[in-house]
Amino acid sequence: MKVLVTGGAGYIGSVVTERLLNNGYDVTVFDNLERGHRAAVDSRASFIEGDLRHANVINDAMARVKPEAVLHFAAYALVGESMERPELYFENNLGGGMNLAAAMIRCGIPKLVFSSTCATYGTPLRVPIDEQAPQKPENAYGESKLGFEKVMTWYAKCHGIQSVFLRYFNAAGATDRLGEDHNPETHLIPNVLQVALGRSAAVRIFGADYPTPDGTCIRDYVHIADLADAHLLALRDGVSGAFNLGYGTGASVRQVIDAARRISGCEIPCETAPRRAGDPPALVAAGEKALKELGWRPQYTDLDAIIESAWRWVRQYPDGYEKER
Ligand code: UFG
Repeated sequence: MKVLVTGGAGYIGSVVTERLLNNGYDVTVFDNLERGHRAAVDSRASFIEGDLRHANVINDAMARVKPEAVLHFAAYALVGESMERPELYFENNLGGGMNLAAAMIRCGIPKLVFSSTCATYGTPLRVPIDEQAPQKPENAYGESKLGFEKVMTWYAKCHGIQSVFLRYFNAAGATDRLGEDHNPETHLIPNVLQVALGRSAAVRIFGADYPTPDGTCIRDYVHIADLADAHLLALRDGVSGAFNLGYGTGASVRQVIDAARRISGCEIPCETAPRRAGDPPALVAAGEKALKELGWRPQYTDLDAIIESAWRWVRQYPDGYEKER
């Protein structure tokens, strides 16, 4: 099966690309390399450097590749940045997405798997969060992702494009070759491991006065290899609709730091800092739908296993993809 992967040089897209290739798919990656890394793209994949904001570029690529399905990862994904420069998020995530969808309609591509997010729910009324929970994003990032879900819901009705929305909770961990390398890095686990490596002095805990057992925010950390599996399941004919991808268990910021201390054997100093704007106290998935309807069987439901994989990766590649491999 021939597939086009937008954003296949990014953190999650590169892992899914590798998994698709290992399963015999013919993969073309489309990425502008603005935030992704060429070295993260598996050498077995074809590669097109291009930007979804240029409609003619994605039209040409779609017509040339003529995939049977598109997996769409390419997007900006920083909540804080989205509140400072929302226009970037709507132009790229929504505008770029619409160019992609238009190219799919023009070429008659029947299937889309979309990298969505639990940020589309905003601060939930109830935790764990199921797919029926109201979608009320509290940041421009979440709104841009929800906007594209809505567009594709109409295109499913009117053009028959079968769409799957995978709403990730907190993607984390690494495979042997591929890991998390953002610049700037804002995510908790890589920041904690930079302190363990001695490359930064202390972890800043953004808020220790939340209404949670230890006062720090709770998140549902999901290993990227498990996320990758869900994409292959979502590609099957007949699968459509939204699926939360989370384990249904949460870990607090302090629990993440404690696990990293155990695994690395390093002290990992930390300090309490003010709350970060837009952080809900707890985001945990009710993941039953993915288990039942998608047949998802996650393997890394233990936080230690996730952090161990990330720790192995940062020790092997302390400069990330900076030195092209
Ligand atoms: N945190 C710290 N110190 C840090 C970094 C993070 O205390 O140095 C805290 C955050 O305040 C938050 C938790 O750790 O409470 C997790 O933060 P991350 O930045 O790792 O992840 P987020 O939950 O903010 O964001 C992730 C994805 C987004 C997605 C969002 C959904 O990165 O793309 O989940 O809520 F939209």
